[in-house]
Amino acid sequence: MCGIVGYIGHRESSPFLLEGLRRLEYRGYDSAGIAVLGQNGLKICKTAGRIQGLVDKLIDTPLAGTVGIGHTRWATHGQATEVNAHPHHDGGSRIAVVHNGVIENYQSIKTTLEGKGRRFYSATDSEVLAQLIGYELESVEPSADDPYRHLVTAVKAALDQVRGTYGLAVVFRDYPDVLIAARLGSPLVVGIGTGENFLASDASPLVGHTDRIVYLADHQIAVVTADRLDVSHREAGQVHWNAEAMPINAADSGLSGFDHYMLQEIYEQPTSLENAMRGRLSEEHATAVFGGLNLTPRQMRGVNRLVLTACGTSWHAALVGEYLIEELAGIPVEVEYASELRYRNPPLDPETLLFAITQSGETADTLAALREMKRKGHHTLAICNVVGSSIAQEADGGIYLHAGPEVGVASTKAYTSQCVVLAMLALYFGRLRHMSFDAGLRIIESLQALPAQLEKTLEVNDRVKKVAERYAHCNNFLYMGRQFNFPTALEGALKLKEISYIHAEGYPAAEMKHGPIALVDEHTPSVFIMPHGKVYDKVMANLEEVKARGGPVIVVACEGDTDAARLADEVIYTPHVEEFLQPIISVAPLQLLAYHIAVLRGCDVDKPRNLAKSVTVE
Ligand code: G6P
Repeated sequence: MCGIVGYIGHRESSPFLLEGLRRLEYRGYDSAGIAVLGQNGLKICKTAGRIQGLVDKLIDTPLAGTVGIGHTRWATHGQATEVNAHPHHDGGSRIAVVHNGVIENYQSIKTTLEGKGRRFYSATDSEVLAQLIGYELESVEPSADDPYRHLVTAVKAALDQVRGTYGLAVVFRDYPDVLIAARLGSPLVVGIGTGENFLASDASPLVGHTDRIVYLADHQIAVVTADRLDVSHREAGQVHWNAEAMPINAADSGLSGFDHYMLQEIYEQPTSLENAMRGRLSEEHATAVFGGLNLTPRQMRGVNRLVLTACGTSWHAALVGEYLIEELAGIPVEVEYASELRYRNPPLDPETLLFAITQSGETADTLAALREMKRKGHHTLAICNVVGSSIAQEADGGIYLHAGPEVGVASTKAYTSQCVVLAMLALYFGRLRHMSFDAGLRIIESLQALPAQLEKTLEVNDRVKKVAERYAHCNNFLYMGRQFNFPTALEGALKLKEISYIHAEGYPAAEMKHGPIALVDEHTPSVFIMPHGKVYDKVMANLEEVKARGGPVIVVACEGDTDAARLADEVIYTPHVEEFLQPIISVAPLQLLAYHIAVLRGCDVDKPRNLAKSVTVE
């Protein structure tokens, strides 16, 4: 979703701003812009659409200056037009603002300011910040002993009036040697350089420029000059800041031989699974070992219920976790959409442990659900990929995925890593309870075999491509699976929807008879995920029901399954693995199927329309 960059120093700011915005592209956006302060005053350049459009504009009319801010916008209030793109100014081009987040009471502020004669030019909530700061600035006097105090006073006065969330950066035409940033609910980091400082909404634009970063916390305001950073809390005053090392893997290392990040990330999965498991499986104790849960084994043993909360693909991983933990550890698990959990009031006893599952660590609903559970006194843990992200910092403890940066908007490697971490958690909780040493060891062996089995699974790529060619024209798909592979059906359908814009529904196979079967016809393929296991025969019966009604059937089945081959129109084979680990394997052909269909339909695989990688608004 929206991204922010800022620069102040001795170099031209535009190259950093544009490169930084490119590094934030993966978050999803639909317009972009920069504001630069130089000898010609404060100049803004914006465009609807891709950053390349901005680059092209700047070739014709470059913006010179050593202070600047930039933004990628994902439209919330107002269409994705050039006028609605950031930076916004105060009407007189005395200040420019970039803003991530949502100002909930923007309409009433706008009406008040319009009543005082100010004219608004955009349909965004963010413009009120620029106009309000500009308005407040008119009534504060510069102070003799601190050149920037009145600027902070004006920003604070504006922020005191808004309700909502923000990560924002402001530059002032008449104060070309300072940049002010503030945060509430939307992340911001300051990069500390030598004779220059940087600002960004996550660490990725700063890679290669500095390895010292300061994470701003909620309610903090930063005054950034070329050689100084002052941070204060809106109420508590001056804050002593500490620079942290740049997180390893903050940088996207680029495409290495693949056409798209999504395909590259699908192929990275054997490695990302290994990374998720590295050092976490103890054969000596036949269990999993986690360093950062911040609870003693005795406290963990006392946990009598788990709530797993997440959004999107991470929510599907949570469902896989529910099956795994209940099966292997016998602990009741509840899976909740974070957006629902934050407003529900579920009666939970104190021994309930919350896991927030998130790739980015920034999803607004997941963060809010975590805070709500924390407020109620529950211990909260995160299963997260991005080191130093808001959720990673606010949770009481957690487990990093170590999957490396995931750039493709459609999550792939983070999903399988989340599933494998949840499988290790199931082992851990099981071994704290009833699971025998031998059973624990068998699970460890199965987990250790997974990367090679996933590698082998990916050999189906050419076969999947052929299947994609046959069905890419269809406008509706059904995905059916049962038990451990019910979430796989949901995830397969979501992948197809996200990147190829085809309507797809995932269902527990037996539920098909209660609705989806009405959709079955010769133009609606049904994808059955049916590896060998307890429910194989039942799913086979559902498959027959679809065949009997003339629907094309694509099956993901275990190697050697001749029954599936006989009945289905297409079979995609995967290796045999333990039934409870099958979701980690059987999702891979579905990721590939969605990928190839999207490519065949000419879709922008890595940046699908309307979607964002990191959803930082409610
Ligand atoms: C967005 C992304 C999805 C992701 C979801 C949750 O919708 O496009 O790929 O699954 O957010 O994100 P998180 O970072 O919390 O896992």
